[in-house]
Amino acid sequence: MRDCIYGLDVKVPLLDGSMVRYVNLDNAASTPPLVKVVDAITELAPLYSSVHRGTGFKSRLCTDAYDRAHEIIAEFVGVNTELNTVIFVKNATEAINKLSHRINIPEDSVVISTCMEHHSNDLPWRDHFRTLHVRVTDDGRFDEEHFDMLLRENAGKTALVTVTGASNVTGYIQPIYRLAMKAHEAGARIMVDAAQLAPHRRIDMKSDDDPEHLDFLVIAGHKMYAPYGTGALIGPKQEFLSSGPDYSGGGTVDMVTPDEVYWAGMPDRDEAGSPNVMGAIAMAVAAKTLMDKGLDTIAEHERILTAYALQKLGDMPGIHVYGETDPAKAHEKVGVIPFNLEGTDHALLAAIAGYEAGVGVRNGCFCAHPYVVKILKLDKSEIMSWQDQFKKGDKSRMPGMVRMSFGCYSNTEDVDRLMEALNMIKNGEYHGDYYQIPKTGEFVPKNFIDDYKPFWDPYEIEM
Ligand SMILES: Cc1ncc(COP(=O)(O)O)c(C=O)c1O
Repeated sequence: MRDCIYGLDVKVPLLDGSMVRYVNLDNAASTPPLVKVVDAITELAPLYSSVHRGTGFKSRLCTDAYDRAHEIIAEFVGVNTELNTVIFVKNATEAINKLSHRINIPEDSVVISTCMEHHSNDLPWRDHFRTLHVRVTDDGRFDEEHFDMLLRENAGKTALVTVTGASNVTGYIQPIYRLAMKAHEAGARIMVDAAQLAPHRRIDMKSDDDPEHLDFLVIAGHKMYAPYGTGALIGPKQEFLSSGPDYSGGGTVDMVTPDEVYWAGMPDRDEAGSPNVMGAIAMAVAAKTLMDKGLDTIAEHERILTAYALQKLGDMPGIHVYGETDPAKAHEKVGVIPFNLEGTDHALLAAIAGYEAGVGVRNGCFCAHPYVVKILKLDKSEIMSWQDQFKKGDKSRMPGMVRMSFGCYSNTEDVDRLMEALNMIKNGEYHGDYYQIPKTGEFVPKNFIDDYKPFWDPYEIEM
């Protein structure tokens, strides 16, 4: 896949002034664009025009491309478009928020979420419904017995089960089809946050009458090699047609009189205003490319790489890997590995990796604070202590981990580069004099200012 991705040969400066090939091990946050995606968008640029309301050739062409993007995403997730709709939104967060506003369930219903969710699949539910959280085990796995118990205890009241397809912290993959079956048996529906799952595994929402059918699904283009500002919410048309949209205005209506509004059909009703045509097309091209390359092939490549990285980390004294540590069980997770190095702050480690090894990783709690705190096994007094400090505006003692995460193009060389950096840090062989900024918790080297100009400065283009 390396030839399919933009920017893998880019060299970046290190603290000592030398240049090295940049290694991106932060794919769980966002992936670089596919060459096919960038090419498609560049080729579309001279033909770009508004969609749906224009009669000119360019408008007709873009409308056709935009409409077909919906169909390609439907094919990507294996959903029946007679009964279901693909709604383009900005990202996974917007998709889940939209559903939390639009889902037709009584306000006193119970939503069952989990303790391993990204905040984006927790807070919107907490905002609108009584939300119960399935526990996780000590090593961060979904506790299915507790899920069964919550379903039993809330029989007849549970309207929705909402669960991440794969965790953005540990990479654990949930048994979504079994959970779907159990949710349906209990009279509930299921929403899968597939933001992390979609770039790594084949997804099939299955036919609407299948007990394993996934009722709602959320994906994000920027996590599947199309960082052009589009995500998608997929679900039954009828769900959205039975009420007006959360955002009203242009595009959402068929007819408006001074007194009446006739809402448009789906997906127009829920894609208010001028849509992000290029973003939707980019996402569809990415989905098509992933399907053509084969998600099973990608999954197998990532399994091998994850096993390799787990082995390397396991062999290094002082490294603590969270979640699954056994290379033989790499298939149980997507390529996301959280860890810490004994005696080194997670933020300092991530900074040194970036400034002195040219390796991009992420650190902190990854927008999943309750989950990370649980896996770190912090005791109450530790939690109180950093929270008190946090409330005073000082994030320097925020707990966290370092996360390496793979894309379909990542390779053993990338992992080795991070391992070299870890050795350097462990042996105290780094050169920078780092200080921490209390307001953000990040570490930066003293007497160093990034110079981005030689790389890219679009605001300085001479016309
Ligand atoms: C599992 C999961 N859900 C939701 C989100 C939010 O995605 P977005 O940034 O597209 O809103 C993320 C982002 O990291 C994620 O990993």
